[in-house]
Amino acid sequence: MNARLIAFEGGEGSGKSTQAGLLADRLGARLTYEPGDTPVGQRIRATVLDPDHPEIAPRTEALLMAADRAQHAAEVLAPTLAAGQHVVTDRYIGSSLVYQGIGRDLGVDAVWDLSRFATGGLEADLVVLLTVPEDEVDRRLDRELDRLEQAGADFHRRVRSGFEKLAADHGWAVVDGFGSIDEVHQRVVAAVEAAGIALYPS
Ligand code: TYD
Repeated sequence: MNARLIAFEGGEGSGKSTQAGLLADRLGARLTYEPGDTPVGQRIRATVLDPDHPEIAPRTEALLMAADRAQHAAEVLAPTLAAGQHVVTDRYIGSSLVYQGIGRDLGVDAVWDLSRFATGGLEADLVVLLTVPEDEVDRRLDRELDRLEQAGADFHRRVRSGFEKLAADHGWAVVDGFGSIDEVHQRVVAAVEAAGIALYPS
């Protein structure tokens, strides 16, 4: 079997994690996430999202995300795919391109090079971008915020438009994330089928 890597991308409160989980169940895939899916990644995550360290520089942030991704790829993604199992990851390279490349203004190409180095060139076979209207996100994000979520309205506006631009440039599947969990899941399934990834009948 040709095991595939599917990445979910989107802003905070887009419902990615829920939809990634549902799709992983449906595909019998391994469900992973970034940052933090490995023991070392957990330590990197705790550092990079720590609200007590607002001084973390953009390049430091990009390198920490890349370090987490390198460990994720080596310890989880590559071995799982090599064993023939699909992987669904909640965030991958696209998040760095958008948050660090565009949001932090480090440049998409520079950040792409970093991710390529981190993963040895392992790219997602399908990227699903979940979009939700801004006021719906505000409603969903009524909780304590981590360091990146606290980054400010202008940063998040850049992230939002960055996701849309990259999706258009790179042929990501854009899925409307507004609706019931099941409605959105059906849209995700349709995008996966359209990408030629076989699903078992449910
Ligand atoms: P997380 O708590 O996993 O939330 P969610 O994915 O549901 O938003 O937060 C991860 C945060 O890290 C999120 O603000 C996006 C950010 N991030 C980057 O800035 N760059 C990256 O490469 C990755 C993977 C995540």
